[in-house]
Amino acid sequence: MNERARPETVGASTGASLENSAFFMPFSMNRHFKKAPRLLTGAEGVYYHTADGRKIIDGTSGLWCVNAGHCRPKIVAAIQKQAAKLDFTPPFQLGNPMAFEFADRLVKIAPKGLTRVFFANSGSESVDTALKLALGYHRMRGEGHRVRLIGRERGYHGVNFGGTAVGGIVGNRKIFGALVAGVDHIRHTHDLERNAFSRGQPKHGAELADDVERLCALHDPSTIAAVIVEPVACSAGVLVPPVGYLERLREICTRHGILLIFDEVITAFGRLGKPFGSQHFGVTPDLITCAKGITNAAVPMGAVLMKEEIYQAFMGGPEKAIEMPHGYTYSAHPLACAAGLATLEVYEEEGLLTRAAELWPYWEEQAHSLKGLPNVIDIRNIGLIAAIELAPSAEGPGRRGLEAHVRAFEKDAYIRVSGDIIALAPPLIIQKPEIDRLFATVRDVLKTLP
Ligand SMILES: Cc1ncc(COP(=O)(O)O)c(C=O)c1O
Repeated sequence: MNERARPETVGASTGASLENSAFFMPFSMNRHFKKAPRLLTGAEGVYYHTADGRKIIDGTSGLWCVNAGHCRPKIVAAIQKQAAKLDFTPPFQLGNPMAFEFADRLVKIAPKGLTRVFFANSGSESVDTALKLALGYHRMRGEGHRVRLIGRERGYHGVNFGGTAVGGIVGNRKIFGALVAGVDHIRHTHDLERNAFSRGQPKHGAELADDVERLCALHDPSTIAAVIVEPVACSAGVLVPPVGYLERLREICTRHGILLIFDEVITAFGRLGKPFGSQHFGVTPDLITCAKGITNAAVPMGAVLMKEEIYQAFMGGPEKAIEMPHGYTYSAHPLACAAGLATLEVYEEEGLLTRAAELWPYWEEQAHSLKGLPNVIDIRNIGLIAAIELAPSAEGPGRRGLEAHVRAFEKDAYIRVSGDIIALAPPLIIQKPEIDRLFATVRDVLKTLP
C-alpha cells in the first residue's frame, strides 16, 4: 500500500502511528479521533480531498472561513509572489504599503462610519483587541470608570482570556478559573418553544435585549464599557437574532454611552448576502471584529474596524508617543495582506459578497425540507447558513451530533456539529446541484442515525 492510501500513518518523517502522535489537537476528541482519523490532504473549490482519493463536499467552509472556496489560484499566486518578495515587515514603527492599502479597501466595503482598521491574526485576537480598544477609548475620554464588559450566554468570541470571559459557552469557560474580572452576560435568544422552524429571523425575543438595561440598573451604566455579541451566534449552534433585537441593543447602548461591538468573525465577507452582517441587519455597531473570510483563510488574519471617533480618541496626545500600546508581531503580515487583497478581488470579480442573498431562498427550501426526519427538533437558517438541531440521544448530549458528523464524512460530506446541532455554511461559490448533494447526504445520515 502506498503512502497516499494509508491515512493512519503520520508524516513520513517520523513514521509514528497517528495514535501516538505528538500533536495535541485543538477543540478535538484527541483519543477518539486518533483511533479513526479523518484526514484531509488536498482541497479545491467546494471539495476536500482525502488520502484515499475521495472528494468530500465542504459543508461548513472549513471552519466558516473559506468563503470563496479552496485553493483559489489568484489567492495562491498572490501569496507565493509575496513570500518571495517581502516575507516580513515589523509592524511597529515600520510598515509595508499593502497594510495601508488593505485597510483602505476594507473600509470601502464596511458599514458607513467605520473608518479605521487595526490588524490582528485571528478572531480571538481581534476580539481581545476590540475589548481593549473599548476600555482605552473610554479612558482616553476621561471615562475610565467604564470598565465592565458585557457578553451573552452561548456567545463565542474565541479563546483568549478576554474572549473566553465575554463568551458564554460553559464548556469553554469552566476549567479556566475566574477569567477576567468585571464581565457580565445577557441571556441568549434561543427559544425553541416560541421560534422552532423559523425561516430567517425568528419573531419572538427582541425584549431579551432589555437584559442590558437590567445590567445597567445593577451596575450603573457609567461602569459599563462595551457590549459584545455575534449578530448571528454561529459556533454555539446558529442562533439567529429575533426581529428587532439588534436594533434594541443598539438603541440601549447608544442611550447609555456603551460601545456596541459586533463580532463578525463569521458573518463578515458575504455570509449573509452583504459584505458585513451589520449591513444585512441595518444596524451599525461601534466596532466590528472580523477574521476568517478576510483572507479566505489562506493566511491567518483578523481585524477590528472602528468608528472614527474611537480612533480619534487615541490621537489626542503628543505626536511622538505611541497611541495604542497593543499589537502583534504579525499584525498586517505581508502574506496576510497579499492574501487579503487578492481575496477581496475574487469576492468582487465573482460577486461573492452578495451571492448568499441570491442563493438564500433555494438554500432555505432545501434546509427546511429535512423537517419531519427522525430526531429533528428545529431547523433554522439565515443567509447561506443553516442549522439542524437534533434531540440528544439517550447516551447523552452531543453523541448524536458526533455520530452525524462521522457518518456524513463516511458519505463524503463534511458537516460541522456543535453538540447535537448540525451547522451548515458552505463556500459562497457552491452551485445548486452541490447544495442538493449536501442536503441529500444529510438526509441519508439523519434517516439512519441511532
Ligand atoms: C464569532 C467568533 N469570534 C471569534 C472567533 C475566534 O476566531 P479564531 O478561531 O480565528 O481565533 C470565532 C471562531 O469561530 C468566531 O466564530
